[in-house]
This record gives sequence, C-alpha cells and structure tokens, in this order.
Amino acid sequence: MSATPAGKAQSVLVEKAEALLEALEPIEAYWAFPGRIGLFQLRKLLSREDYPAFAHLVSRIVRALVSGSYRRHFIDVAHEDEHDPEKEVIDPVEERAHARPYFEVLFVDNLTTAQEEAQRLALRDMRRADDKFIYEAVTVPSFEDALIAVLFNHNIQSVVIRYDFRFESHNNLKILQRYLNRVSDEVLDDIPEEDYGPELCRVIRKVRPELDTFLITDRSVEEIAGRDLGGCLRVFYNQEDYMELHLNILRGVNARYKTPFFTALKEYSRQPTGVFHAMPISRGKSIIRSNWIRDMGDFYGMNIFLAETSATSGGLDSLLDPHGPIKEAQEAAARAFGSKHTFFATNGTSTCNKIVVQAIVQPGDIVLVDRDCHKSHHYGMVLGGANVVYLDSYPLSEFSMYGAVPLKEIKHRLLELKSAGKLDRVRMLLLTNCTFDGIVYNVERVMEECLAIKPDLVFLWDEAWFAFARFGPTYRQRTAMHTAAILRERYRSPEYRKAWMKHKKKIEGLDDAALLTTRLMPDPDQVRVRAYATQSTHKTLTSLRQGSMIHVHDQDFRGQVEQAFHEAYMTHTSTSPNYQIIASLDVGRRQVELEGFEMVQKQVEAAMAMRKAITSHPLLSKYFRVLRVGDMIPEVYRESGIQSYWDPEHGWNDIWDAWAQDEFTLDATRVTIAVGAAGLDGDTFKNSVLMDKFGIQINKTSRNTVLFMTNIGTTRSSVAYLIEVLVEIAQDLESEREDSSPMERRAFERRVKNLTEDLPPLPDFSRFHDAFRSADGSDTPEGDLRKAYFLAYDEGKCDYFPIEDGSMEKAMDAGRELVSTSFIIPYPPGFPILVPGQVISKEILHFMRALDVKEIHGYRPDLGLRVFSEAALKELEKDR
Ligand SMILES: Cc1ncc(COP(=O)(O)O)c(C=O)c1O
Repeated sequence: MSATPAGKAQSVLVEKAEALLEALEPIEAYWAFPGRIGLFQLRKLLSREDYPAFAHLVSRIVRALVSGSYRRHFIDVAHEDEHDPEKEVIDPVEERAHARPYFEVLFVDNLTTAQEEAQRLALRDMRRADDKFIYEAVTVPSFEDALIAVLFNHNIQSVVIRYDFRFESHNNLKILQRYLNRVSDEVLDDIPEEDYGPELCRVIRKVRPELDTFLITDRSVEEIAGRDLGGCLRVFYNQEDYMELHLNILRGVNARYKTPFFTALKEYSRQPTGVFHAMPISRGKSIIRSNWIRDMGDFYGMNIFLAETSATSGGLDSLLDPHGPIKEAQEAAARAFGSKHTFFATNGTSTCNKIVVQAIVQPGDIVLVDRDCHKSHHYGMVLGGANVVYLDSYPLSEFSMYGAVPLKEIKHRLLELKSAGKLDRVRMLLLTNCTFDGIVYNVERVMEECLAIKPDLVFLWDEAWFAFARFGPTYRQRTAMHTAAILRERYRSPEYRKAWMKHKKKIEGLDDAALLTTRLMPDPDQVRVRAYATQSTHKTLTSLRQGSMIHVHDQDFRGQVEQAFHEAYMTHTSTSPNYQIIASLDVGRRQVELEGFEMVQKQVEAAMAMRKAITSHPLLSKYFRVLRVGDMIPEVYRESGIQSYWDPEHGWNDIWDAWAQDEFTLDATRVTIAVGAAGLDGDTFKNSVLMDKFGIQINKTSRNTVLFMTNIGTTRSSVAYLIEVLVEIAQDLESEREDSSPMERRAFERRVKNLTEDLPPLPDFSRFHDAFRSADGSDTPEGDLRKAYFLAYDEGKCDYFPIEDGSMEKAMDAGRELVSTSFIIPYPPGFPILVPGQVISKEILHFMRALDVKEIHGYRPDLGLRVFSEAALKELEKDR
C-alpha cells in the first residue's frame, strides 16, 4: 500500500476492519446470519483488497440485521454477484406482519464446513409452502459451544444433538468461559463420552427450559430404553431422514406457538351470530347503529367488539369451569411458567392474592406476612380470618423506603411460635418477591430453612412484579416455581438424605439462638413442597390490564386444597370475565415461550445502559444518584460483596455470584434514582417535572427517590430520551442556581438537607392490642385482624383524634393505648403503616407527620385518626 496520506488512512481502516472481524468471528459462529459463512466471505474480500465489494457486503449485512429482513428472506452472503437487491430493501410493515416467523436450529455435530453447508441446503430443501415457520441451521462442534450458543443466540428455538462431538470449545474468550462456568460447574468434569448427548439436553433445559431438544443416537433402542435422556423431546435413531426431523422441529415450535383461547376467540368472532343476550356491545351492534358514540368504534376498530362475548358455546370456554380452550391455555401457561397448575385471573393480582389466601387459610390459622406487602394481602387476611404475625423488613431510612424481610426475622418468629406450641396453627408465609423497589429474596434458602422448622409450611410468593423472571436464567433461580421444582427433586435424592442425616446430628441439642445462625435443612421424610406464586402478567409481560396468573406447585394441592381453591376462585371471580384479557394472557404466554429469553436479555441491557449513562455523566451525577446494590442491600445480606452493577472504576460487575448466593439481590431492571440533591421530593419530581413537563410516566416514588422501571418494551431510544430529559432538568437546575439570590440559595440548601439528612426513621410494626391477641398466656405476636376490622363497623365504638395538635401524644402519656380501627395507607409508600387492631406508637405518628404526602387512604384530615374507644377495648378485654 502506498505511503501517501490516503494510503495510510486506508491501511489504518483495513487494520481496524480486520480487528473487528477477528472480534466478531468467535461470536458469529453461534448465529446463522451472517454466521461463519458471512464472516468467511468478508475476510475473503478484505484479503483480496476488493474494498468496494467488502463495503457493499457490510452494508447489506447491516441492513438485514437492523431491519430484521434476514428473518424473512434468504440473504445469500456467499455469492455477492447473485444477490437480488429488490428483496433486501426494507420491506413494508404489512409484509413484515405477514411474514412467517423465523428461528434458528442449533445442531451439535462435528462437521466440516462443506458438510455443514450441505446440511443447511438439505434442510432448506425440506421447506414446504404451507410450513408455518422458517428456520436456518447453526452448527457447533462441542458441548461447550452448544451452551454458549443457547446463552447468546436468542433466535435458537430447537437443538438437535448428534453423537459425534467433543466436549471442549476451542473458543477461549473469557466472557464466554464465564458464562459457561455458571451453568455447568457440576457437570463439566467426568461425563463419559457416551453421555454427552443426554447431559447436554439436561443442561440446556436448565438454562433455557423452553427449547425443544432432539437427541440423535447411534446406540440401539434397547440400550437407550429406560435411560435418563435429560428430558429431550424426542430421540432419533441414527437417521438421516431430514423430512422427519424437519417436521418434528416445526411441530415442537408450533406447540409453543399455539394459542388455544386466542385462536378460539378469533374463530368465534368470524361466525355470524345473532345476539339475544345482555350484551349490547357484542358484535359492535350498539356502536355501529349509534349516532353519538361511533368514534368509539373508530378508535378501537371492529375486531375488539366482534370478539366481545360472554358465550361459552361456539367453541369458547368458561373461565369458571374450563374444559376447552381456556383449560388448554392454562395448561400451556403452566408449562411456560414451570408450575403444576396455572389459573388465569381477569382482575389482577389483587384478586389472585385473595384467592390463594382464602383457599389455604382458615379462621384462626397463623400467617406470617411481610408488613409492607400489597394491601390485597391484608384484606385477604381479614377475609380468611387469619391471625397475623407481621414481619418487619429492614429499613432504608436514608431513602424512606423498606427493603425486605431478613431470613433471621422469619426464623425467629417461627421458632418463637414453635416454643409456644403453636407451630401446628402456622399455615403460611407470605412474601413479596421481588419488592416494588426490586429487592429479590433468596427463595431457595428461605424455603429450605423455613421447611426445616415447619415442614408443611405453605409459601405464597407475591410475584406481581416478577412474571418476566422465569425467562432469564439468572432471574429464574429466584422464582417460586423454579425453586419448588428444584427442592422436590432434591428431597427425593439419596445424596440429600445422607447430607440431612449428618445435619441432624450437627444440630442436635442446639438452642434457638444457635439455630438462628445455622443453615437449616428440612427432614426429607416430612417435608412437603407447597408453593404458590401470583403474578401480574400485565405489569411485566404482554397482557391487557388486569391479566394475572396464579401458579401452583403444591404437593398437597389435589388432596387438600383443590376444593377450597375452587370455592375461593368462585368467591372472587366475576361471572362475566373479560375474554379479551384471557386471550391476551394466552398470547403473552406464547410470546414468552418464544422470545422471553431475548426480551429479558434486552431489558436488562437497556437498564444497565441507563445506569451507566446517569452514573458517568458529570452533570447528571451532580443532582441524581443511581442507587447501587450496596445502597439498597446492607452488607450483611450481600455475601458476594458486590457493591454495584456498574461503577466508573470497575465497569460492569458479574452479578451471577450475587444472584447465586446473596440473601438479597437487586433486580437490575429497576433503577432507583435519589433526587434529593436536586432539592426535589420524589412526588414533585414525578408529577410536576417528569409528567407535566416531559410526559414521562413513573409509578413509584419515596420521599427522596424515584423509580424508573424498564420493561420488555423498553428500547435503547426510550432510554436515550430519558437521559436527554434528565440532562435538561439538570441544566435548568444549574442555571436556576446560578441566577439565584443568596436567600434562595440558602432555601435550596435547606431543602436538600431536609431531603437527604433529616429523614424520619421508619417505624417497625408496633403490636396488636391485647384485645386482639389470643389469651393463651403466650407472648407470641399474632393478632386477629378480622375481629378488629369488623368491630370498627360500629361507629359508637370509635373515637377520632387529630394528628397535628399533640392530643394523641398527650393521651398516650396519660396511659391510654390508642388502637387503630382501620388500614392507614399513605401513597407513597403504598402499604399500611397502621392496620386494624394495631397500637399506635409515637414513632408512627412522627412518621405520618413527616411523610408530607397528599394521599393517605383510610385517614380523613377533617375528622382525624380513627381509634377504638376505651370502652370498646375494655369490653373486649373483659371477654377474653
Ligand atoms: C406486590 C404487589 N402485589 C399485588 C399487586 C396488585 O396487582 P394488580 O394491580 O395486578 O391487581 C401490586 C400492585 O401494584 C403489587 O405491587
């Protein structure tokens, strides 16, 4: 190359291109497009110094990747001269909508490049016009490469495992190796070669359980019969029949693609039906014929009304007694979410929670509940007549929010109830996972240790915010359904029994204090795995508002709960459920089974990009601070020692260790930002700045923080917009401060101090008044919410106290116990700071005054705080 400036510039560019290709090469081997062949072609053009052709091919590839057109048309990167530019232009939206869905099939096989290409072509030859989907093959030569491929390539939907492949990858990239170590620590060593296939199936099912795995074996049927084949979908015996394989691959994907209820509803909407039913909106009749509400029809389009029905005939089904497509849709959801049974709900997790509580809890049962759980649980406790033990979460006073309940607190309460001889009455532990702010429990550890104390304890995990978690391998390990399945398997195994015998000896004679600090194991002969998860599908996945699911993995469901569950479901479910919501749950399930893995991965990426952008921007970081793991989870609960997901000094941290071991972790998709340094409280920032000025919606604030939630629809551009907005706000603050008078500056500093330093301590749950506790002489804290709740119906038994004038403190100093009659729920934080029957403490009053929020449910400022009269309490005490 010439030494002219142009020549030099060119050689710099060529070097750059070579370096980029080198970086891409190991990763491209795991993708079908442009794949190994595309990279090979690019390298060839570069080495031939055919730069125009190189640049052209690069731009074709980029266009195809960005527009996704490679999913719709075959883009021949190997033959530059033969390509049809017409086909590669960005296709119109309608064409995209009607294109057959595309996926990739991973072949694990030791093939030469020529054999690999021949196989790709042979499979392409199998395509038929009426195939519902199209796919391309990607081939990798080893066990490890297969794992890397399924972890990186979200297009993969099926894996075909042959018998002739090696174990190790030649790919030595550090990042890939790190991924590998996570999934396969226990299996990497000592697998006999003939077991590579089944073992690979097993590990793939662990990482991406939604994938179909096909095993092709050269061993005889007899040899294979009865062996553990790692849960593969189907075994083929030494065959080269591509058509059979092709049909099975398509059938496997179609099983996930099928939406029994959505399809039935579409069919129904096409039928000519006369409506003689109390439902004028059905078929849009009351809208089309109207002179005044036609804009409703224009806005929604007709399909929504054609599908609007309450008919249980015509191929549709009844949510209250499903036997047809709703039942099938629920079964498909059970498969997708890893439960034994799944039930749809059309009025949110608020209802799901009440259903589960009512199904499990009988009046007088003791239930341990995290105090800052959603209000539906508290109301559920009233309905179920539970005796409630409220569990305190660790406080984050600096940010006016709560964390989650430490395991020690739960164990302490259980052991206390055990000592009081009340363990037989303890029915359920109810925790929110993850919390609104993104604190995630170590579900496995909580269940194990609690089951060691109370072997048939029922767990209700409120996963209102966590439906997406099943579809990311890191997240999945902390979900209820995954954990229940793992524990079931563990307790059956002889290895566990052996370990438990040892453990039993170790803990013999330990007192409660020692048990609190010992990791406990349940007795395999007594333990029953009983877990329920309630999820607001509509909050984190695709579903119309109020679409929720209850997932059940309860060993005793059939024997003990099914009937009660049915009754509870009937109690809370409308007899006119909205079919559109049910259809959207069905479609949302299809989506996660086919692209949940990709969506969660991209969501996490978007959230991480947001963290990085805010933390590293000099002006933003002056006013806004992204709360790190270390800010939201105290050190004692972070065994991994991880402080942050990203920081300027260390860059990205590996979160896997934290998710595998820590008592609590932080959901990376939720980004809490402290705004106190901007002199704004969370509520003002949310409403007056973000919403009014920029149209940005958020739904959670604390006194000095705001929570930005990403979701599966969050794009890089929406993150970029948010950053722009924050920069604009920061610039405004900056110029306001520059122009301010010394007085104004002092006022600003006072505000900042007030928001960042003078924060009221968060009060713990005080206690239930004795009138609502059992009179059995024990000192356990459970209280009868229902008794207090209904006593308050009698206005004559209630007094009112203003909270501002100090009269409550005066009454307390004079020895009166003030007891709340109602749930008092300020927004934020959005959970009851007082419940019926709870003794009001000075700390709670102080907190209420300092809260400074406009919305407090259950409190009427004109009347004051409602408490039980002294006479009412005396009367109750007399009867105890
Ligand atoms: C933890 C928790 N559980 C349950 C619910 C109620 O869910 P839904 O809105 O689906 O009724 C919420 C709502 O915000 C929640 O935060």
